[in-house]
Amino acid sequence: MSDMTHTWLNDLPKIELHLHLEGTLEPELMFELAKRNSIPLAFGSVDEVKKAYQFTNLQDFLDIYYQGAQVLINEQDFYDLTWAYLIKCSEQNVLHVEPFFDPQTHTSRGVPFKVVINGISDALADAKERLGITSKLIMCFLRHLDEQSAIKTLEESSLYTDYIDGVGLDSSEKGNPPEKFSSVFKQAKEMGYKLVAHAGEEGPASYIWSSLDVLNIQRIDHGVRAIDDPELMVRLIESQIPLTVCPLSNVKLKVFEEMSEHTILEMLEMGLCVTVNSDDPSYFGGYMTENFIALYDGLELSKSQAIRLVKNSIDASFAQKKRKKELYNLLSEFESE
Ligand code: ADE
Ligand code: ZN
Repeated sequence: MSDMTHTWLNDLPKIELHLHLEGTLEPELMFELAKRNSIPLAFGSVDEVKKAYQFTNLQDFLDIYYQGAQVLINEQDFYDLTWAYLIKCSEQNVLHVEPFFDPQTHTSRGVPFKVVINGISDALADAKERLGITSKLIMCFLRHLDEQSAIKTLEESSLYTDYIDGVGLDSSEKGNPPEKFSSVFKQAKEMGYKLVAHAGEEGPASYIWSSLDVLNIQRIDHGVRAIDDPELMVRLIESQIPLTVCPLSNVKLKVFEEMSEHTILEMLEMGLCVTVNSDDPSYFGGYMTENFIALYDGLELSKSQAIRLVKNSIDASFAQKKRKKELYNLLSEFESE
């Protein structure tokens, strides 16, 4: 392990395409917001919270994650949550982000959609102005709920299309196939939204097929189970449909037992458009830099592989052409330093 490489990985210009804002809630902020909003917490201290972050699967994590999100009540809370993440991005030289948020986690508790979107979008606007970080925002539907609830959420979002760029699908994957959401994704496409979906994290490769063919998504979130299906691998290589892979998340949720078993670099070398992302950094042990460091420590990630992964993220992003060019230029400048 070399500290110099760790510094290099932190300084490397980066892009994040798979990040749940609710998953950036650090225990310290959780306690602060619980106090601010008089919400009782199941934990007595920050240390107790951190100790509870041992998961055996996705559902284990989701149960704690939805509990944590209950401290978010007012516009300022959503602003503070988003801003704290963006400051982290600025410290780690993350230049463009495409975060997710889960409106149903909040509207189901009586928090209005408007409160959520105003807090988040104000922070994203401030980040562009003050930190130079650009963004596209993606609204996710919770797949453990029914499609009618997703349709209601989509309809509510129609007032805020200036702030929302795409829709996604997250939460409990197993038993909730993409087909369950075919109508809402069709409607979202007609509204001009970009389309992404979590698929092939814990669920089978067949969920990746149906995300592509039934939901018509442009990017797959996770997608690591594609490696089980040679025909799908060919399709992904030929189409260059991007996969937003989350290494630390996959190890924390036991998708892979150890980082040394992770297949991301194998997929990169096979020619898939794989990218590195942090998913829920507060719960999984790190943000973008820590994910790159984990690949370096566990899989001997080379500098040229790191640069190719960032190039994939630029290609895979929904940023405007001009911004993509700027990001490419910043990466080239860094490479030649
Ligand atoms: N929501 C937050 N993180 C998630 C993940 N890794 N998979 C599915 N839903 C999520
Ligand atoms: Zn995710």
